[in-house]
Amino acid sequence: MKADDIKNEKLKAWVTETASMCQPDRIEVCDGSQEEYDRLSARMVESGTYLKLNEDKRPGSYLCRSDPDDVARVEDRTFICSKNEGEAGPTNNWRDPDEMKEVLKGLFAGSMKGRTMYVIPFCMGPLGSEISHIGIEITDSPYVVCNMRIMTRMGKAVLDELADGDFIPCLHSVGAPLAESQKDVPWPCNPDNKYIVHFPDERAIWSFGSGYGGNALLGKKCFALRIASVMARDQGWLAEHMLIMGLTSPEGEKKYIAAAFPSACGKTNLAMLIPSMPGWKVECVGDDIAWMKFGDDGRLYAINPEAGFFGVAPGTSMASNENAIHSLKKNSIFTNVALTPDGDVWWEEMTDDEPEKLTSWINEEWTPGCGKKASHPNARFTAPLSQCPIADASWDDPKGVPIAAFLFGGRRSSVVPLVNEAFNWQHGVFLGATMASEKTAAAAGKVGELRRDPFAMLPFCGYNMADYFSHWLKTGEKDGADLPKIFYVNWFRKDDQGKFLWPGYGENSRVLKWIFERVSEKGEAVETPIGYLPKEGAIDVSGMGISEEEMTEILKVDPDQWKAELQGIRDHFKRFADRLPQEMWDELKALEERLG
Ligand code: GTP
Ligand code: SPV
Ligand code: MN
Repeated sequence: MKADDIKNEKLKAWVTETASMCQPDRIEVCDGSQEEYDRLSARMVESGTYLKLNEDKRPGSYLCRSDPDDVARVEDRTFICSKNEGEAGPTNNWRDPDEMKEVLKGLFAGSMKGRTMYVIPFCMGPLGSEISHIGIEITDSPYVVCNMRIMTRMGKAVLDELADGDFIPCLHSVGAPLAESQKDVPWPCNPDNKYIVHFPDERAIWSFGSGYGGNALLGKKCFALRIASVMARDQGWLAEHMLIMGLTSPEGEKKYIAAAFPSACGKTNLAMLIPSMPGWKVECVGDDIAWMKFGDDGRLYAINPEAGFFGVAPGTSMASNENAIHSLKKNSIFTNVALTPDGDVWWEEMTDDEPEKLTSWINEEWTPGCGKKASHPNARFTAPLSQCPIADASWDDPKGVPIAAFLFGGRRSSVVPLVNEAFNWQHGVFLGATMASEKTAAAAGKVGELRRDPFAMLPFCGYNMADYFSHWLKTGEKDGADLPKIFYVNWFRKDDQGKFLWPGYGENSRVLKWIFERVSEKGEAVETPIGYLPKEGAIDVSGMGISEEEMTEILKVDPDQWKAELQGIRDHFKRFADRLPQEMWDELKALEERLG
């Protein structure tokens, strides 16, 4: 489609204005067709950006290797440009919006020279859903276009739905203009000049210099979390970094659960879990983001704004996540994984035996024991949700699904037990607000460091985190609300030797079963200072081969260890000064008193 085909006046003006600033050689409006996808993919194979994988092994799929300086989200280059710094809060990088606009205009001027400017109409959420919203991404990266086609509802149908309506403008450039006859590189980017910028008041996104993941696929973290969290605050709904799953009991009763874990802490795995418990069934609505609104019945209804998975590849195997392996069998994009000699992909722990020879993600020969990783720790697959064997029947339902329980969690090698339940909504908000997790490779920076990551939203909240806590508290006060129960889980507790105490993955269904029972007012619990814990024997470990002592260790709440946590929580809260809701201090005080 051509720019002239655009009917929406606001869009027409924005495209014209952007083209005159960025000076691309050509403009293409994406229709979202297979023909367009194939054409762009072929173009990327020709330019060396893509490698077509073996059609017999991995039909319709491609391997892409990024610049080694562009492999993950860059949180220190991510900015929230609200009117004043207080609006952005202490956990976000703030810049004055006018000053930032000037910097960006300088960077974007001529930034698309020698390239095609793509206009991508996309819808976050099912078309026609009251919970969905439309965005337009303008980008000079065909890789972004192809990923957006998998990750969102994209193309002409969205333009038709948009009609004269409003949209979120999302501007992206890899920041690597080409001089006349200059040869392009496989992964153009601008490593020294990355800017992932959000204007919450204007509801606009400008991203420069990176082509990777959440930095560049602007529907995902930039729109569906940072900008949407602001819209949700203003309009009374929730935009969360949560998976959504359906859980059916052997009796055929079904409940939906949403779970917030930080990046690379197990959302995709849990969303596609194969229960080890006989008769239980998990179905997947989404693996990363949930948008939720109250229905007339007072329940919170969730949609997955996305239509695909942008999942962590390393560690994904038939043993750990069979449903993910099936989802990415075809029509998928693999970024920064290794290539096998027969034209297929491989990554760490994909198979029990390592292949004898590979080409690594940095395009070097790799052999077992060579001391280097074959794939990057944040290597990702992009795969359509519709290919997931356990895609929930309602994953594309405009109504969304009613949520019965929220799970919070993270990587904690000590202190935090396998599962506990909040006493009530306010205590649950406290559990979310004090979440902490050891850092992973999903963002640039040091791996393993413990950091507070409230609601798994630390890098994704588009406004002051203290106000976000208030928004959660307010959500709980809604008249007639039938609120989900709140739980905290930790699959990652370790013993003195550094070994995981809990096997995780499919065995997590045992914890889900207890949660399901608690939501049904059945499961048995004991009160502890940190919340309700499963009563001895209440977690079904039949056939698991785990000893009573081991279960005691996994579920242990050590008051001394928890007392040592208090200072960390206090320091965390102090950052928000007067803006922190008093209820959070009250909860901290109550916890302290319960610990004695
Ligand atoms: P993002 O896409 O970055 O938001 O990550 P995510 O939360 O979807 O994480 P994902 O499910 O991809 O998990 C990341 C890694 O966590 C996997 O590669 C696994 O190694 C590990 N993991 C997931 N579930 C479990 C579990 O139950 N136990 C243990 N020990 N590790 C797990
Ligand atoms: C995350 O980091 O939480 C992701 C990957 O889901 S990205 O899309 O890069 O944000
Ligand atoms: Mn994520």
